[in-house]
Amino acid sequence: MSKNKFLEEKSAELKKELCTLESSKTDEEYFKRRSECTVNSRCEQMKAAKNQAFDTVALWGLYGKEDMMRYKSLTLPLFMTTAGGSYDSLVDGALLLSYQTTNDPNKIYSRIDNVNPDHLAWKFAALEGIGIRELTQGLCTSSGMSAIMMATMAFLKPGDNFVSSNKVYGGTQQLFDVTYPKSGWSVRWVTEPENLKKWEEKIDDKTRFLFVESPSNPTLFIADIQKLAELAHSHKIPLIVDSTLASPALARPLEHCADIVLHSTSKIANGSCRCIGGAIIARDRIITEDKDLEEDFVNKLKGGHFRNMGPCLSPFNAMIIWDELGTLRIRMQEHCRKALKIAQFLEKHPMIEKVNYPGLKSHPQHEIAKKAMKLPDGTNGYGFLLSFNIKGGFEKAKKFAEVFDFGTQVTHLGGSYTVWVHNATTTHGQMSCEERKCAGIDDNLIRYSVGLEGEEDAINALEKALNKVK
Ligand SMILES: Cc1ncc(COP(=O)(O)O)c(C=O)c1O
Repeated sequence: MSKNKFLEEKSAELKKELCTLESSKTDEEYFKRRSECTVNSRCEQMKAAKNQAFDTVALWGLYGKEDMMRYKSLTLPLFMTTAGGSYDSLVDGALLLSYQTTNDPNKIYSRIDNVNPDHLAWKFAALEGIGIRELTQGLCTSSGMSAIMMATMAFLKPGDNFVSSNKVYGGTQQLFDVTYPKSGWSVRWVTEPENLKKWEEKIDDKTRFLFVESPSNPTLFIADIQKLAELAHSHKIPLIVDSTLASPALARPLEHCADIVLHSTSKIANGSCRCIGGAIIARDRIITEDKDLEEDFVNKLKGGHFRNMGPCLSPFNAMIIWDELGTLRIRMQEHCRKALKIAQFLEKHPMIEKVNYPGLKSHPQHEIAKKAMKLPDGTNGYGFLLSFNIKGGFEKAKKFAEVFDFGTQVTHLGGSYTVWVHNATTTHGQMSCEERKCAGIDDNLIRYSVGLEGEEDAINALEKALNKVK
């Protein structure tokens, strides 16, 4: 009989399993040892991913031959189910639901785990972990906002505070300023986040973490992550970075010693603009005085308030985002090339007061961006997002919005389609004028997310509209 590789591998696997079963004294010991094997095998895959090219990890993640054979599918299939499989025994069920073992994600319950978000989390964690020695862990959430909420609230008790750059997305500002005080948690905004001293002045013994969004939406502030991490760690608190705009294709904050990285995967991670999602990625061990959270932060969330509050990612969305990540670097590279050309065109136009784009020499943190924003091959790229101020104040910005006819005017960014928006009246409309001024959201600011259309079409349309605004 000809040799069948699949059968040979399967029988070796079964023999190993049988050996574990026979040498275990109790059911509990057997299930725990089986779980250890699963965890070890994932850890080995994560270690192996560290030696692979970014594009390989972005395409395959941890979906390997074994999964392919098991599911009989070239790509990760959709597990559109609330739960799946069956507990092997009462002991198996009890251990799984008390998070003492892990076996098949679908066996728990899809609010807590499911194969699709699980694979997406591993892929994201592997991508953010390229370049560092330690292992990383990921958790996917229903949106970027829920990723921010889950990761930050974990550290806070009534009376605690945290220090954040004030150059953040409008939704984050609302969460920190309006929602959090109701639980007794207070944000201390840093209005000059480029100045480390301003951060330090705000830290006291009730400060639980530092938070920064880099690049920031929509003003494109770029943080010196390394210096902020050093400052945070000197106070034994973690640095949490919202790296949505960079994505792991452009910046990996863990490489610069950040503890936790957050993403709205509704953006460049899923260029097709089809779904909302979020991700939390952390080192195995983070710097914090909270002994409960120091190790295995992501799994503590999973078995804690993530489980209790239920902001899970749907398997369907996870499947789409998992697929889209496969082309992340290729898309990002094109976005960067086109965005730089458009930014350079705008900077020279007489109707433009100012362009915010980290790739321009005029950007105040251009030198930091040059060090921190790199495509996996080491070449610089500065992202898909830019914003610009139109000369003549609000009236001229309003006129621009009326006549500009390219892409679409809507609050989204990072997709393959060009979208643009007037921030003061939309994304940051709930802030007071004073808060907007402080955050750099001027009344004549337009945010422009460069899509993958021909850049010459975008430049022609911008020129036409700006000439009409004159
Ligand atoms: C930088 C940044 N972080 C977080 C969010 C929130 O993400 P989501 O819309 O997926 O909740 C956004 C949304 O625009 C964002 O731009």
